[in-house]
Amino acid sequence: MMKPVLGIETSCDETAAAVVDGDGRILAEAVLSQLGEHAPFGGVVPEIAARTHLRHLSEQVRHTMAAAGIGFTDLGGVAATSGPGLIGGLIVGCQFGKGVAIASHIPFVAVNHLEAHALTARLPGLVKGGAPFPYLLFLLSGGHSQCIAVTGIGQHVRLGGTVDDAAGEAFDKVAKLLGLDWPGGPALEKIASEGDPTSHPFPRPMARRPGCDLSFSGLKTAVAQTVLRIGPELTREQRADVAASFQQAVVEVLADRARHAMDMMQGRFPRANLLVVAGGVASNAAVRAGLADAAMSRGFRLVAPPVRLCSDNAVMVAWTGVERLRRGWSDSLDVNARPRWPLDILEAVAG
Ligand code: KG4
Ligand code: ZN
Repeated sequence: MMKPVLGIETSCDETAAAVVDGDGRILAEAVLSQLGEHAPFGGVVPEIAARTHLRHLSEQVRHTMAAAGIGFTDLGGVAATSGPGLIGGLIVGCQFGKGVAIASHIPFVAVNHLEAHALTARLPGLVKGGAPFPYLLFLLSGGHSQCIAVTGIGQHVRLGGTVDDAAGEAFDKVAKLLGLDWPGGPALEKIASEGDPTSHPFPRPMARRPGCDLSFSGLKTAVAQTVLRIGPELTREQRADVAASFQQAVVEVLADRARHAMDMMQGRFPRANLLVVAGGVASNAAVRAGLADAAMSRGFRLVAPPVRLCSDNAVMVAWTGVERLRRGWSDSLDVNARPRWPLDILEAVAG
């Protein structure tokens, strides 16, 4: 049996560490959110993120190893997110991981953050025995919105994605227009629950178009114009109505795109019947409900990991390490952190 793997995640504003064993059991996990550091600036400040990772990562790893009750020499490997993301934080995590690997004489895995989100569904706790390949991944985070056919470890077919903003980015920008606190997604979902989703007929960009590309900039502009028309001082009720109508438009667009993506998926992989969601937006209850309905309409099952495993975490990084190491794949210590790292070149890297 494979020994446990230490995972490290520092690609954005969470400093996270986790230990996962060869069977996918989570021995320990910790996420330190930097929200408080960035909130005064209304968004993630890369330099502050990097320095905060540097300040907290060693302690975070030490605590997680202690909670798992093992020492570094008990590890079968160390996996660190090495891209894509904010380069300062990636360098901190990637180099720290290599340091642990050198000192403990264990292999190092440079993890692609998107693949880590993609492989979360293969943790045995979510689908009995882990999601079998191929499955459809709908990745909806602050930086990425993509439909991907996950056909194997390091094997992906991109079916579509956003042509402008990511879904989370759209939530954040509309929340800002409504004067809500950053990060906007959770705040917007909260106030939307008080509003009428039919009060504003916002557009449904891309709906019913062929393929499964997404677009949010037209919707964002429509919201901005509405807010401008209502006037400088929106009441709480007006804010709630705009938020609910915006969220409804997003849910309908995502459901439409997911239906198209499932059709494309079944065209290429007739056995496929799982729709997996990941990314911060997947923690939105209305989005989950909309995607569950869409999945049912196509005979698919929706796999929505618990919220803590949808947003950025190190369990998914450690698990990606397990999946790669048990195939005998590890990375040379010459591998460097890279801010851009599309999924489709993974196969070559794994090669
Ligand atoms: O995956 P994630 O934690 O970080 C990365 O971007 O990698 O996603 C964060 C994004 C933010 O844009 C945030 O506003 C959005 O996910 N988000 C939500 C909700 N929770 C987080 N959007 C809508 N509803 C939510 N409940
Ligand atoms: Zn992420």
